[in-house]
Amino acid sequence: MDLSTSRSDVPAGDAATTQLTPVQIEALLRANEELTELNRKLSEAQDKLVQSEKLASIGQLAAGVAHEINNPIGFIFSNFGTLEKYLAQLFGMLAAYEAAEPGLAGTPAAAQLLRMREEIELDYLKDDIPALMTESKDGIQRVRKIVQDLKDFSRVDARQEWEWVSLHTGIDSTLNIVNNEIKYKADVVKRYGELPDVECLPSELNQVFMNLLVNAAHAISAERGTITISTGTAGDMAWVEVADNGSGIAPENLKRIFDPFFTTKPVGKGTGLGLSLSYGIVKKHGGRIEVNSEPGRGTAFRVSVPVKRSDAPAA
Ligand SMILES: Nc1ncnc2c1ncn2[C@@H]1O[C@H](COP(=O)(O)OP(=O)(O)O)[C@@H](O)[C@H]1O
Ligand SMILES: [Mg+2]
Repeated sequence: MDLSTSRSDVPAGDAATTQLTPVQIEALLRANEELTELNRKLSEAQDKLVQSEKLASIGQLAAGVAHEINNPIGFIFSNFGTLEKYLAQLFGMLAAYEAAEPGLAGTPAAAQLLRMREEIELDYLKDDIPALMTESKDGIQRVRKIVQDLKDFSRVDARQEWEWVSLHTGIDSTLNIVNNEIKYKADVVKRYGELPDVECLPSELNQVFMNLLVNAAHAISAERGTITISTGTAGDMAWVEVADNGSGIAPENLKRIFDPFFTTKPVGKGTGLGLSLSYGIVKKHGGRIEVNSEPGRGTAFRVSVPVKRSDAPAA
């Protein structure tokens, strides 16, 4: 909007002493309306900027930490492989010594060997060491997976490029990241359909999935609930639905949930930005978010995005 034109028809001078004609009053009212609208747009733009700045820095932080952890985990993992091999050799050697033991019968050395064997509980160690190794390797592998998911999730290296990716991969890595919020409250059921790769901004869509998943977990409070993730296609759109059997949304709130800063959660738990941000991201993809909610029964959010990015570039 051009301010100079919208103001040109407003008369100069002191309104209290000048009698305004209806035309002038109308012009003033219109100018006021336009200014108010402009103001609203400005503050909306500012909110979005702040939020996208924040997101970008969280993503960068996550990717940075992931990168730093990746190296040490890498050598621990490879050392573990070597350690396993050495241990197998040592156990082999031990078996050879044990086989040679009868030759020492009756000597002081034999008595000492027996004492030590009992002291360190050799038989137990033989069982427990391989078990410890397996468990630790499993732990390291899990850390590696988390690190990889963090990298996939933030994709800072990809620099916000439109990419053809599998939404299922994005949902899975997002699930790993929010697992902590979900695992004590709900079981996750996946009903993945057939999905082609989708041309999108992966880290942004992951952000949307994350918001929906965390909201779903928050909506489940009393007893353990279920979060169902379904996917599929409809025409040239791919859709992802996140449904919960939680509290549902009161009808009077339903039209406000996408408003920035609208939240029903206590301070510290909700910012009220998740859905407004998600709405913006989905819109940027030329898609839509639909919500279906029944108070007391649960809520389903469905995100649909075009498989192929539409040619009209989004603002
Ligand atoms: N799955 C859901 N079940 C019930 N209410 C929800 C759900 N998702 C969103 N809401 C409602 O919408 C509000 C806004 O959500 P959101 O924008 O993500 O902000 P926040 O989660 O920080 O409150 C929430 O405070 C909640 O009242
Ligand atoms: Mg939220």
